[in-house]
Amino acid sequence: MSSGTNDIHLNDPQALYRRWEESQWSPFTIDLSTDRRHWLEMTGDDQRLIFFILSSLMVAEERITTKFSGLVGAYGTEEEATFLATQQVDEARHMQFYARFQDEVIASRDTITAHVDRARAQVSDGFRQIFDVELVEAHRRLIAEPGSLAAKARFVTLYHLILEATLGLTTFKFTTDYLSREDLLPGFVQGYSKIHHDETRHIGYGVWFLRETVRSEPGIADVIRQTLRDLLPSVVASLEPPGADAGRDFDAIGASGEAISAFALGGLTRRADIVGVPLSTL
Ligand SMILES: [Fe+2]
Ligand SMILES: [Fe+2]
Repeated sequence: MSSGTNDIHLNDPQALYRRWEESQWSPFTIDLSTDRRHWLEMTGDDQRLIFFILSSLMVAEERITTKFSGLVGAYGTEEEATFLATQQVDEARHMQFYARFQDEVIASRDTITAHVDRARAQVSDGFRQIFDVELVEAHRRLIAEPGSLAAKARFVTLYHLILEATLGLTTFKFTTDYLSREDLLPGFVQGYSKIHHDETRHIGYGVWFLRETVRSEPGIADVIRQTLRDLLPSVVASLEPPGADAGRDFDAIGASGEAISAFALGGLTRRADIVGVPLSTL
């Protein structure tokens, strides 16, 4: 491809690492006192909806933190190793923020494992398939074959393109739009926005890595295609709210299922074009 979105400028790992150095924040300095008051004043329905979203984030960040080290070990250059080490710290920081939110706003002080176990009861089957089966398997294979470009491309497609970009950005947009509009949980919105800022760096790496890899090894495009084909059904299922089969919708947060799917698919379409593997070729 000689023109179009495939040619846009992307930051390389060294540029992303420099950004990381300038973007430090602490999950322990955000004020959560208003959030605690809001939580106690919320109706049962609102609490259930918020708890469902928070649970998904708690489980996701735990998985994403503990199923990442294989990628650090599969680095190409030292600059890439440096950037990947920062991403691992970021993910642990995100997990710590959600655990602190559980400690101080939702429940009482407990271990991260206990918070994740409680949150786990809330998440959907599609979500479990992605985080507990597909991600775990892709990570296991990457640890077994750190020199395999195919294993690395599958992992980055799943982790950066699907989990972080497609599911992550969509959840961030609709959750923070809703909370900001309703003037709810300001500390959570502040922390989640810091997390989002980190995530845009991570996604930048993933898109950079996949595009460079497809350019140097065109056969890898098939690995990316196959990964997307394998995962898209679970992505669609996991974007549905609990009880969607009973006709419920995300009306409660002021967004239809169609709007959520369109946003998710729009972003994935754009990134797949940049990578050089348009969704139309699936
Ligand atoms: Fe994260
Ligand atoms: Fe991330």
